[in-house]
Amino acid sequence: MKKDKLYIALVGLPARGKSTIANRLRDNLRKDNIRVRIFNNGDLRRRLTDRSSSDPEFYAPSNTEGSTLREHIAMINIGRARDYLARKGQVAVLDATHVSKKRRNKLSRLLDDHPVLFIECINEDKAILEASVLRKIMLPEFSHLCREAAIESFNKRINYYQTIYSPLDDERNFVILDSLHNKIIREEISGTIPFYDRIRDFLVTDTVKNLFLVRHGETYFNLENRIGGDSELTENGRGQAHAIADYFSQVKIPFIFTSTKERTRQTAVPIHAAQKACETIELKEFDEIDSGICECMSYEEIRKKFPAIYGDRKKDKYNYTYPGGEGYVTMKGRIYTGIKKALYLSGTSDRIMIIGHRAVNRMILAHFLYRRQEDVPYIYVPQDKYYHIVATQDKKLLQLKPFMSID
Ligand code: F6P
Repeated sequence: MKKDKLYIALVGLPARGKSTIANRLRDNLRKDNIRVRIFNNGDLRRRLTDRSSSDPEFYAPSNTEGSTLREHIAMINIGRARDYLARKGQVAVLDATHVSKKRRNKLSRLLDDHPVLFIECINEDKAILEASVLRKIMLPEFSHLCREAAIESFNKRINYYQTIYSPLDDERNFVILDSLHNKIIREEISGTIPFYDRIRDFLVTDTVKNLFLVRHGETYFNLENRIGGDSELTENGRGQAHAIADYFSQVKIPFIFTSTKERTRQTAVPIHAAQKACETIELKEFDEIDSGICECMSYEEIRKKFPAIYGDRKKDKYNYTYPGGEGYVTMKGRIYTGIKKALYLSGTSDRIMIIGHRAVNRMILAHFLYRRQEDVPYIYVPQDKYYHIVATQDKKLLQLKPFMSID
């Protein structure tokens, strides 16, 4: 039926998460038996051209040869998308930058048989952009360059796109999305857009197909009940890390996220080593709660030296903030940012692992589980088990599982 068909055109500079959104959107809509296909200009360019199209000068607006070729590629995909919807297809996703008004007008003119929904992806977080660029330069088209040259080349390409970038404004149907925070910044819809309710919900939903949430192995501080600090793993802790590594050795985990603390990094080492292809990324956002003037003390020492702190914290643990440090309540923002960064950087990966700390993992669990605030500081986070979390539009699952054999 005519009304059941839709073009979606992504908009945004390179490395803003467009392809991740396109792929996830396709997987998501397919679950509802909607026929979706992605038409990606970058993939087509890599197939049709030689290495010269990876050169930043290929993207210079003044390079007529480059722009003619890119225009040609765009036209092929526009034609294919139109054909697809003319046959059995229901949603055609055009995955390209579409940053100039001229290109978007052309697209709207040529795709006039069904509504076009533009989705602009914005993300200006510097650290995330740097990490995204590092992932982009792993593409074979940069393999002839050293790391620095590849980064420079890709950034130059982004700059050329920047010169012709004109954000969405007067298009008939569009959504501007903060693709790091899954937040709709602006929405203008002037007609009936098929599947729109589902698409919009998808855009603002955190999706994680499989998150393995692990706590670091036992540390010397744990043995003495000392909090914070940067203690190393004990022999037992190293054994726990190896047990996790063995347990997951047959499960592909392309991304492991740790804090910047020694204990999570040491836990990650054997797990990373047991994987064939895996990237380990440290995020400061996942550092353990900063206990301020109580750092490195045991609970017993705090009780004796700072009885008021000890007592006040007991009264309202979630809202209590350590003098000179943090509380669960003040950690919320950074943990949220950490989760967003991990999900963004892992793109369309089916599995990710986060190796965190007791308070950090409680906050991560609370994010996916919607626990009552006052209960969060009491969530069980053992060192011989992990939480398996699934959070998609259709499924929410949380399971505590052992990774050590019980014999
Ligand atoms: O004891 C380990 C630890 O991770 C400390 O570093 C941290 O202060 C504490 O757990 C958090 O747990 P709680 O909020 O229950 O004190």
